[in-house]
Amino acid sequence: MAVLVTGGAGYIGSHVCLELLKAGVEVVAVDNYRNSSPEAVQRVKALAGKEMPVYDADLLDKDRLAAVFANHPLNAVIHLAGLKSVRESVEKPLVYYENNVTGTLVLFETMKRFGVGKMVFSSSATVYGAAASMPIHEDAPIRPVNPYGRTKAMIEEILRDLCFADPSWSVALLRYFNPAGADASGAIGEHHRGVACNLVPYITQVAAGSLQSVNVYGSDYPTPDGTGIRDYIHITDLALGHVKALEHVLRSTGAKAYNLGTGQGYSVMEMIRAFEQVSGRTIPYTLVDKRPGDVARCLADPTNAERELQWRARRGIHEMCADAWRWQTNNPSGYA
Ligand code: NAD
Ligand code: WQD
Repeated sequence: MAVLVTGGAGYIGSHVCLELLKAGVEVVAVDNYRNSSPEAVQRVKALAGKEMPVYDADLLDKDRLAAVFANHPLNAVIHLAGLKSVRESVEKPLVYYENNVTGTLVLFETMKRFGVGKMVFSSSATVYGAAASMPIHEDAPIRPVNPYGRTKAMIEEILRDLCFADPSWSVALLRYFNPAGADASGAIGEHHRGVACNLVPYITQVAAGSLQSVNVYGSDYPTPDGTGIRDYIHITDLALGHVKALEHVLRSTGAKAYNLGTGQGYSVMEMIRAFEQVSGRTIPYTLVDKRPGDVARCLADPTNAERELQWRARRGIHEMCADAWRWQTNNPSGYA
């Protein structure tokens, strides 16, 4: 059984490839390294002690993608390649629609051409926008509030249409909450070009001394300590969710969405304190204005994934912070 992982060199992709290899799945990866490094996949292969063909390919390159499908008989695709910065998507919507939506259309056309109809797709809790009730169930309205989120919502709809048109297709739409941490080895982790925007990599950089202070966006939210609450999920738990989702799509048909989160929320201040504990360092922070578009709380109801994928997140925030810190201390400049 062989699976294509698009975006296999990325933060989530590298951890997904590792867990798939560990589970005995044959993996083929593609990535154009726009936001990643070939070193990531080298380390994945070394950690797993297994081989994995990796193609330097852009999803928008139809011929190159077709060559990958022609070279490998594939049973399924785990589609993670995409651009993911909310802020950048607001500034450059066309870049996001072209890369994320058009690139995905090329992938789907290629899958149809080669008769591959099993897909695990990296969607996001972003598709819910400002949800009216917490925790968020998959039936909540889809109301993305930025171009990035709209690319995810559009791809979800396209996949539902594809499943309707061809009942042999099977799709798991995985809506991730807040992935954080790194593989426990400290050999792979989150590598980004430029300054991190997400909270955990930002705290990590401050703990390491490469950034001065964490800007805490908003301290008067209606939460116990006034700072925003999120559902942080360990990257290894998230990766294992893909292994389970893959098993599920291989034995089912139709399209279904699954929240991948823990159901447990932590505030910005709780994350800073947890990181201080595991790193033994003081993390300077500054209370600043709210970040536009942020909500007070965002929590998953993960019961569908527990029931239907037989998956549940097992790692907590201390493990996430400790593993992120190990990755940082082992690799002060990421994969560079
Ligand atoms: P990432 O940037 O680390 O990984 C994405 C990978 O896709 C990168 O290696 C990049 O080089 C590659 N890529 C981008 N466009 C490509 C293209 N046209 N052709 C080939 N490769 C391309 O990001 P990540 O955090 O690993 O996210 C993976 C997926 O999960 C993304 O689709 C993202 O939108 C989604 N997601 C991420 C988060 C998060 O917080 N990290 C949350 C929800 C959803
Ligand atoms: C978490 C909390 C911030 C940075 C984003 C995307 C979402 C998904 C996951 C892709 C919030 C606060 C943050 C900082 C802070 N990605 N914060 N200081 O915004 O929940 O979700 O990543 O799909 O689409 O929107 O994650 O890590 O940016 O923020 O105070 O420097 O930390 O206000 O409460 P977010 P985040």
